[in-house]
Amino acid sequence: MSDRSHEVIFQPEGSRTRVQDGVSLLEAAARCGIVFDTPCGGQGLCGKCRVHIPHHAPEPNDADQNHFDLDELAAGWRLGCQTHVSHDMTVVVPAGSRMGDQQILTDGIERPTPLKPATQKITLSLPLPSVDDQRAHLDRLREALTQAGVNGEARFTPQALADVTDIFRGRYTERTVVLCEDTVIAVEEGDTRSALYGVAVDVGTTTVVGLLEDLNTGERLATASRSNPQTSHGDDVISRIRCCMETDAAVEQLQQSIAGCLNDIIGELCEAAQVAPEAIYEIRAAGNTAMTHLLHGVSPVSLGVAPYVAAFRESRVRSASELGIAPRSRARLRTLPNIAGFVGGDTVGVILAADMRESDRLTLAIDIGTNGEIVLGDRRRIVTTSTAAGPAFEGARIHHGMRAARGAIDRAEIVDDALHLHVIGGARPRGLCGTGLIDLVARLVEWGVIDIGGRITAPEDQPHTVPAPIRARTLKGEGGFRFRLFEASATESGLEINLTQSDVRELQLAKGAIMAGAHILVRKLGVSMGDIEEVLLAGAFGSYIDPRSARLIGLIPNLDEDRLRSIGNAASAGARMALLSTDVQRLADTISRESEYIELAACVEFQQIFMDQMMLTPVAP
Ligand code: FES
Repeated sequence: MSDRSHEVIFQPEGSRTRVQDGVSLLEAAARCGIVFDTPCGGQGLCGKCRVHIPHHAPEPNDADQNHFDLDELAAGWRLGCQTHVSHDMTVVVPAGSRMGDQQILTDGIERPTPLKPATQKITLSLPLPSVDDQRAHLDRLREALTQAGVNGEARFTPQALADVTDIFRGRYTERTVVLCEDTVIAVEEGDTRSALYGVAVDVGTTTVVGLLEDLNTGERLATASRSNPQTSHGDDVISRIRCCMETDAAVEQLQQSIAGCLNDIIGELCEAAQVAPEAIYEIRAAGNTAMTHLLHGVSPVSLGVAPYVAAFRESRVRSASELGIAPRSRARLRTLPNIAGFVGGDTVGVILAADMRESDRLTLAIDIGTNGEIVLGDRRRIVTTSTAAGPAFEGARIHHGMRAARGAIDRAEIVDDALHLHVIGGARPRGLCGTGLIDLVARLVEWGVIDIGGRITAPEDQPHTVPAPIRARTLKGEGGFRFRLFEASATESGLEINLTQSDVRELQLAKGAIMAGAHILVRKLGVSMGDIEEVLLAGAFGSYIDPRSARLIGLIPNLDEDRLRSIGNAASAGARMALLSTDVQRLADTISRESEYIELAACVEFQQIFMDQMMLTPVAP
C-alpha cells in the first residue's frame, strides 16, 4: 500500500478521517463510527452499501455498473464496498445504506447461579515497616494473606507488585488485595470491598451486548449494546476470515475494532450505573470461535480452509488492558471455551443457560445467527453441529432483505382475507427481515400461493380460495413469479418491494440445512424427533420468530407448542453465569471438552436429508 493518505469527509454528519491510499470506503467509514449494512460481506453483490460521491467519484467497476443505471453513475452513485479512497473526497452515506438502529436482544433466560466469582477482595490491616520489622513488602503481604486464610502463594502481576511498593509509602495501614483466581491483580489503599464489578459480554458477529454485574451481590446494574464494527470487514465470519487471509494487518485491525466496541460498551455501562471503570475486575466474553480468536488477536485463518480447525479451543484469560480493553482497569478478560471450529463459546453459553449438561430432558437447542448452531442432548451426552444457514435470515441474498431494523417488514398476518405486513418502527418499508420472510412464506404456503416445493404459482394456478387482491400481487418476475409486498410509492427507496422466487429458494436452502443438521444429530444419538422433550430457540432470531410459522414451513420440528421455548440471548446469559460463578466456568470447560462435534460435510446421508428438508411442510415428530 502506498504511504499517501487522503482525507475523507462523511456526510451528513461531517465526520472526517485520514486514511491511506487504497483503503475501502467501508473501512474509512468504520473509523468514523459509521457502519454499513453489508449483507454480502462487501462482495459487490447485494447493492446495499450505496454511497453518493458528488465530486470526482472514482471510475465505476463492473459491480457498480450492475447496480446503478448510467444516470446514477454519472451523478456519482457507487457501492461503498467497491470504492477505494484515491484522493480527498466527500461521501454522502444515505440512511438506507447504514446498519441502522438494529434490534439487539440483550437478555436471555438463565438458571439461578449461587455467587462465587473468580475475583475476591480481602482487606488487611498491616503494620508499616520499621527498623524492627524489615520484612520485604511482599513477604509482609503474603503472610497476612495466609493468616486471612487466603492463598499466600498467589502470583502478583507486575502492576500489583508496583501497587505494593507504592502503597507502603503511604500512610494507610489498611489495604485491600484483589485476587482473581490465583493471581493478585491489585493492592488498593483502604477498604474497597464494596466496589467489585464485572462485565459479561456476548461478542456476536453482528451485535455485541454487555452486562454490568455487581460481583458482591450478583445484581445486574446496566445493559448496553452495539453493532459489531467488524462488519466493515464483512457481515459474516467467513468474510472476516477471508480478510485475514488476504491482508496481514487485518487480524490486528479486527482486534482493535472489537476492543474499541467493548470500550464503548463498558464506558456506557459505567456511566449508566455510576461505577468507576477502575472498579471492573473481570470481563467474561462468549463468542463464536472466530470472534473469540479475533478478540484475543489470534488469526482465525485456519477456520477458513478444510478441515476448519481452530487455533485453540480452551478458555483463555488475559489482562484486558493488554488487549486494549478497559485500559483504566486491572480487569482480566476470560473467554468461554469453544467446542469446534464453528461451534464456539457462544454455544457453550447456550448449553449453560439452558442447563442441558445437568438435565435429564432431551433438549434440542437451535441458535440461528449468521450461522446456525444446533445442539442436542442431556446430561449423558451432547452432540453439536453448525450449518451455514444464517445469511438468508439476516437479509443476505434476499432481494429486498435487510436486518431487523427500522423499516423492516418483520411480521405477516392474514386478517379477514387480507395480508397485513408489520413494519418495524411504523416507518416507510425498506425491506424484509428474517422473521418477516418466514411469516410471509408461511402465509403464502397456507393460501397456496407458494406450493410446498417452494414455487410461487401463477395466478391462474392458485386455489380458488385465494382472494383476488392477493392473486393480483403475484406478478411475472425473473426466473418465475414474484409476490409484490409494497408498491414503489409506499417505500422509502421509491422502489417496489417484492418476494422473489429466488428468495423462497434461499429460505428453503437455509431451513433445509438446519433441519438436516437436526436430523443428523437425532440419528447420532439414536433417538427420534418425537423423543425430543424441549426445543429451545436461542438468539434474537429465535426470540422474534413466530413458532407457528416456523413449524408450518418445517424450520423447526412440529412438536406441541408447550415443548417450544425461546431463550433469548442465551450466550450473554451463559457468559454472565460464568462471570458470577467459578463452578459454572468449570462446567463450561467440561462442556467444551466433552461435547461432540459432528461435521455435516462428512455425513454421507446429509445431502439426501437436506434435499428432503427443503420442502415447505411441517417436520413430523
Ligand atoms: Fe457492497 Fe454488498 S454490495 S456490501
